[in-house]
Amino acid sequence: MTQGGWRDLLDMRDGGGPAHRASAATMALYGPIAGARGRFCLAQVGQSLDGRIATVSGDARDVSGQGGLVHLHRCRALVDAVVVGIGTVLSDDPRLSVRLAEGPDPVRVVIDCNGVMPADAQMLEDGGTEVIVVQADDVPVRFAGTIRLPRGPKGLCPGAILDALAARGLCRVLIEGGARTIARFVEADLLDRLHVAVAPLIIGAGPSGISLPPVERLSQARRPVTEVYDMGSDVLFDCVLRLPSAVRQCQKIEMPHAT
Ligand SMILES: NC(=O)c1ccc[n+]([C@@H]2O[C@H](COP(=O)([O-])OP(=O)(O)OC[C@H]3O[C@@H](n4cnc5c(N)ncnc54)[C@H](OP(=O)(O)O)[C@@H]3O)[C@@H](O)[C@H]2O)c1
Repeated sequence: MTQGGWRDLLDMRDGGGPAHRASAATMALYGPIAGARGRFCLAQVGQSLDGRIATVSGDARDVSGQGGLVHLHRCRALVDAVVVGIGTVLSDDPRLSVRLAEGPDPVRVVIDCNGVMPADAQMLEDGGTEVIVVQADDVPVRFAGTIRLPRGPKGLCPGAILDALAARGLCRVLIEGGARTIARFVEADLLDRLHVAVAPLIIGAGPSGISLPPVERLSQARRPVTEVYDMGSDVLFDCVLRLPSAVRQCQKIEMPHAT
């Protein structure tokens, strides 16, 4: 990608027009994120050839190659907020900032239903963008700006999490992991796009990228419209899970009755 093309995309993110200097492939991949004007929810997972996102002991740092990592940082730069589950914070202690691309850092959001976020987590101490903890309303608040939601049978409702973030002006959201967190957003049908970056390594065991309730037959499996991109070190699958709202609205139009 050229520097001009990327700068245009950052302008587009901030309300500017189409990214004229970006190639067609770049626009197809990043345009929907940069150009989203309402709510837009993207999940990204970096996995091995055998579909693992970490080792059994939780080591996930080098699953993606350089191309996959640069892509992840570009996605962070294009969204308002990046969301991870508490499992990822406890395992990786991530900063979730933009370091491998030019662009602004997103607000950091941690889904921590039971209020166990470590007070010395790197993201709380690095002087970076705001950190918002999302927790159940039956556990004590420990951090300023915490979002409290009712605890349901499956924890916190993913839709309510997105509503609460949108109420704070955080409409473009990247769900970065881990697997359990992404699965809840897929199950709730809240993802517009799913990016799966596959790196050429075989881990053999460990958590898988996305784990959903089983289906009996392959005909029941989700088969999203998908574009494939060569990211150098990794192959990226850009899956469309929901059509843009304008198209969705069109689909709701009923055909007139035949006379
Ligand atoms: N390769 C990659 O792209 C990538 C990216 C990120 C993370 N990872 C790896 O993934 C592993 C962590 O993944 P994980 O699946 O174990 O954990 P996770 O998804 O990071 O966190 C799961 C926890 O977050 C909380 N949570 C998430 N959504 C919730 C909801 N809707 N309601 C209530 N609670 C919710 C729950 O906490 P409670 O249990 O407290 O209820 C849940 O157990 C680590 O090894 C990390 O290194 C890999």
